[in-house]
This record gives sequence, C-alpha cells and structure tokens, in this order.
Amino acid sequence: MKVIKIASQLQKIAFKHLKNGDNIGLVPTMGALHQGHESLILKSKKNDDVTIVSIFVNPVQFGPNEDYLKYPRPIKKDLELCKKNHVDYVFMPTVNEMFPNNYKTFIEVTVLQDIMCGKFRPTHFRGVATVVAKLLNISCACNAYFGIKDFQQLKIIEKMVKDLNFKTKIVPCPIVREKIGLAVSSRNLYLSAQEKETGSKIYKILKEVSIDFKNKSPHILKQSTISKLNKISNIKIDYVDIVNFNDLSSVNKSTKKVVLAVAVWIGKTRLIDNIILAR
Ligand code: PAJ
Repeated sequence: MKVIKIASQLQKIAFKHLKNGDNIGLVPTMGALHQGHESLILKSKKNDDVTIVSIFVNPVQFGPNEDYLKYPRPIKKDLELCKKNHVDYVFMPTVNEMFPNNYKTFIEVTVLQDIMCGKFRPTHFRGVATVVAKLLNISCACNAYFGIKDFQQLKIIEKMVKDLNFKTKIVPCPIVREKIGLAVSSRNLYLSAQEKETGSKIYKILKEVSIDFKNKSPHILKQSTISKLNKISNIKIDYVDIVNFNDLSSVNKSTKKVVLAVAVWIGKTRLIDNIILAR
C-alpha cells in the first residue's frame, strides 16, 4: 500500500494504471474510518483492479462554526484499516495541496444544494462538490463509492457527474448500522453512551413511521416523525423531510420511491439518517 500526498503523483500513477487497462475505484473519505467506510472499500476491492482511498478533512465543506478543527484524525488507525483491506493507494493531501491560497474554482449544484441539509449548512455542498470533482480528476476513477447515509450528498454528486460529463460511475452503497440501529458515523465518536442510546431511537422511529407509507400522505408521515422525535428528550430537530428518491423534489401520495430523511442534534453532535420507501 502506497501513501501519496501529492495530487500530480497520484494522477501520474492513475494514468499508468489506465494505460494498462486497469479499472480504478475511488473511495473518498474524511478519515476516522469505520465499518461504513470499510463497506465502500470492500465493494471497490470486489469491483476494481485498483482501489484508492482518499483521506482529506476538507475545510471548504465546513461552516465557520462547525467542527473542522475538532474533527477526528486518527491517521495511524486509518492507515491500518486500509492496509488490512488491501487498499492499493491512500491519497492524503495537505490543505495547501488541494486548496492553495490562489485557489478560485468552485462547483455549485444549484437547487439540490439549498434544501434539506443545505438550509442549515449553506456552503457545505459547494465544498463537497468541489473537492469530489478534484478527487475524481486526480484519481481518474472509473468507479467512485458513496454511502446512501449521506443521501443528499450522493444525489448532488450524481447530478454533478451527469451535468459535467465526468466519466466516473457513481456507486451508491447501503447504510451500515451499529447493532443498536444507529447509523455508523465518524461523528458518533463525539457521543456519550447515553447520547448513543438516544441516537439509536432515530432509526427505530424511521422504521415505525415507514409501516404507514402505503396508507398515509407524505405530510402525515412527516408530522408523525416530527412528533415522535420531539418526544425524545435531548433531541433537537434540524429537519425532517420526505423527498423524491430520484431528484430530491417534492412528493405526493402517488410518488413511487421516496426518502424520509432527518437531521437532528443530540447534545452538541449533529446526526443524519434516512430510510428509502417504495410502493
Ligand atoms: P465521510 O463522512 O468520511 O464519508 C465518506 C463516505 O462514507 C461517504 O460516501 C459516506 O456516505 C460514507 N459513509 C459514512 N458512513 C456510512 C455508513 N454508516 N454506511 C455506509 N456509508 C457510509 O462524506 C464525506 O466523508 C465527505 O463529504 C466526502 C465525500 C469525502 C467529501 O469530502
């Protein structure tokens, strides 16, 4: 396993692999790797000849009062996880390598970036789309793996790739959960045992509400989710939304496939989760 810090070096290696006819898979991450990331790596190991994992805590996607500085960076553990899973290259650039002082280019996927999480994190998806575009170009990825856990992020990346004619195929991967139902997340490291227990109720509620999907209107399902979440002390809702699976647009009673998505605060930690429902 090679650790590479310079973009042009990785790009050169990637060109060579492409020339040899190798299929390159990219798993973009911000590190603090867990079973969720691991599931993406395993999928790439299965599909691709070469697997690249990028580890970069991207400052451009954090708002001014967010957790950029305190975001966990267990580099040694992360490299061990990559090695254990036979990753071929880990790309770990510095901030200056990705966004030097004279950096000027940003990508915005309009409309999609302004709803749901975007309402609460106005510059977040601009930062995500920009860094992912750079990573796709640097890695020359044939396949890039994204978790359905960050559903809005996945849809924004899919749209960016389509609109800008990237050659990369975006591969959606299912949500990995802890035994208690909580979606695995790097930010779970911030939670106390009691907060984790509270967090486990989010998915229980999503599942409970889903039972009524075929009989109740989206509006009722949304209200029911809100009232169940509000009953849990120590949870503060950012949003509950039901959106079209294909393009995050509004839904009605006859929409075939929808996503019920939530973002909540538990103490000082913001968690997101979702469930996909189909008729
Ligand atoms: P990060 O939060 O590190 O997540 C990296 C990838 O792992 C994302 O595609 C995310 O959806 C996926 N992932 C996280 N938890 C998961 C889980 N429990 N099950 C399945 N997949 C999971 O998302 C980012 O980093 C960044 O925004 C990034 C795309 C790297 C751009 O900076």
